[in-house]
Amino acid sequence: MRLEIKGLTKRFGSFTANDSIDLVVEPGEIHCLLGENGAGKSTLMNMLYGLLTPTEGEILLDGEPVTFDGPGDALAAGIGMVHQHFMLVPVFTVAENVMLGHEQTRGAGVLNRRAARKQVRELSDRYRLHVDPDALVEDIPVGVQQRVEILKALASHAKILILDEPTAVLTPQEIEELMGIMRELKAQGTSIIFITHKLREVKEIGDKISVIRRGKVVGTAPPSASENELAEMMVGRDVQLVVGKEAANVGEPVLKAEGISVVDPRGHLVVKDVSFEARAGEVLGIAGVQGNGQTELIKSLLGLVKPDAGRISLNGKDISRHGPRQSLEEGIGYIPEDRSHDGYVGTFSVRENLVLDLYRTDEFSSGPALKLDKIAANAKARIEEFDIRTESADTPVASLSGGNQQKVVVAREFSRPLKVLIASQPTRGVDVGSIEFIHKRIIAERDRGTAVVIVSTELEEIYALSDRIAVMYDGRIVATVSPETPREQLGLLMAGAVPGGPDGTEVA
Ligand SMILES: Nc1ncnc2c1ncn2[C@@H]1O[C@H](COP(=O)(O)OP(=O)(O)OP(=O)(O)O)[C@@H](O)[C@H]1O
Ligand SMILES: [Mg+2]
Repeated sequence: MRLEIKGLTKRFGSFTANDSIDLVVEPGEIHCLLGENGAGKSTLMNMLYGLLTPTEGEILLDGEPVTFDGPGDALAAGIGMVHQHFMLVPVFTVAENVMLGHEQTRGAGVLNRRAARKQVRELSDRYRLHVDPDALVEDIPVGVQQRVEILKALASHAKILILDEPTAVLTPQEIEELMGIMRELKAQGTSIIFITHKLREVKEIGDKISVIRRGKVVGTAPPSASENELAEMMVGRDVQLVVGKEAANVGEPVLKAEGISVVDPRGHLVVKDVSFEARAGEVLGIAGVQGNGQTELIKSLLGLVKPDAGRISLNGKDISRHGPRQSLEEGIGYIPEDRSHDGYVGTFSVRENLVLDLYRTDEFSSGPALKLDKIAANAKARIEEFDIRTESADTPVASLSGGNQQKVVVAREFSRPLKVLIASQPTRGVDVGSIEFIHKRIIAERDRGTAVVIVSTELEEIYALSDRIAVMYDGRIVATVSPETPREQLGLLMAGAVPGGPDGTEVA
């Protein structure tokens, strides 16, 4: 099916999120959309999927103008979408989730489970998307959840599939699998609109690239364009894809973890006797495939989960029993991997979120009274400094674009004196221009003498920032190596190869 968008415009009040967009997606084409955070990509997709009503303009399918009153209409017309933020029901099975919305019901609205399971099997065979129809969504890894979302979109025979930043939460292996799925769908004639901030992915899979900036299409490019060219088109200026930094001036250990073990709520030992030191003026990168204990380790350092064994100390002081608030007050900065869960309060304004863990300080309150003028001035400064694209400081964080929500969290954590900065996936969902900025800020924080711990599943990010790299596998730190270590060796360690084994991995 051929999709043509003509002069599509979307205004929110006086703000124009999409400004007369023209775009053509040919049958069986993988069309990539690139653009800064807040450029208007998700807004455009939400109009195509019937979630938003265009202010002006037309959508044509095979030359026929269409209008959608909701996603049901879009699906019926052959457009499926996988959202930037997952919309599955965690306590339902895979089959139930896939059939939700277009379920065959048996009498009194009861889902026909057997039919649902059968249909999911058929779909998953047809598109080679392997899932267990009976698994509970909450029990399966995000990569598989993604597959379920795709199946759900395909269940109504979508001829055009919209994937809005599907790879932001996937591991490199899961991304490879997704690319395979996309190729398969393309071969079967499905058109795909693919949104990502990772230029490498665009170059690998795209047939055509359109770039959106501030609500307008600013150009198209072939996948043979260089990453630097694409970055410049997106951001409108030259972007340093790798941040320059001096050698670290390493000081004393600041944060020490000794023999940390964590048992998860299901009773599995997920962190196994982990010890490390984070030293002043140094970036310690923690590399690993998602799900090897990094999440739980970091949460235990912050007091978000209690370790079952071990000791955590900050400048020699035992903080093992501290809760998150005490840890933050002691000078630990924290950028969580899941911003919507631990990073901000969506219904609160940008201004309030920028002082979430700071409002009790003398700077922003005296006794029980808040210094509202100081809070407002802080918001103004941070919005400017971090280039947070928001209508105003009053806007609820929930209505910001994904990348701009991340910038709110990052800006807040950089707003106070830190002894330690712990950042998990600090640039998840963030555009290349903002990655450059956040990376520079992390290095500046290091150079100020802060001990920095970065957890990332992106090898690029680990290499760009780290002075030492600790590799986690199966709940343990299996090796600590220098950033000179070749990628293949790091990859092997991440996959569980034994350090110093036959592959000759050195230990730093
Ligand atoms: N419901 C809404 N009300 C008001 N403003 C909105 C609404 N939805 C989106 N916006 C604004 O429209 C702009 C475009 O947002 P959109 O989510 O489309 O960006 P995006 O290109 O998908 O960015 P990202 O890469 O960060 O996901 C943003 O400035 C956002 O704050
Ligand atoms: Mg978006």
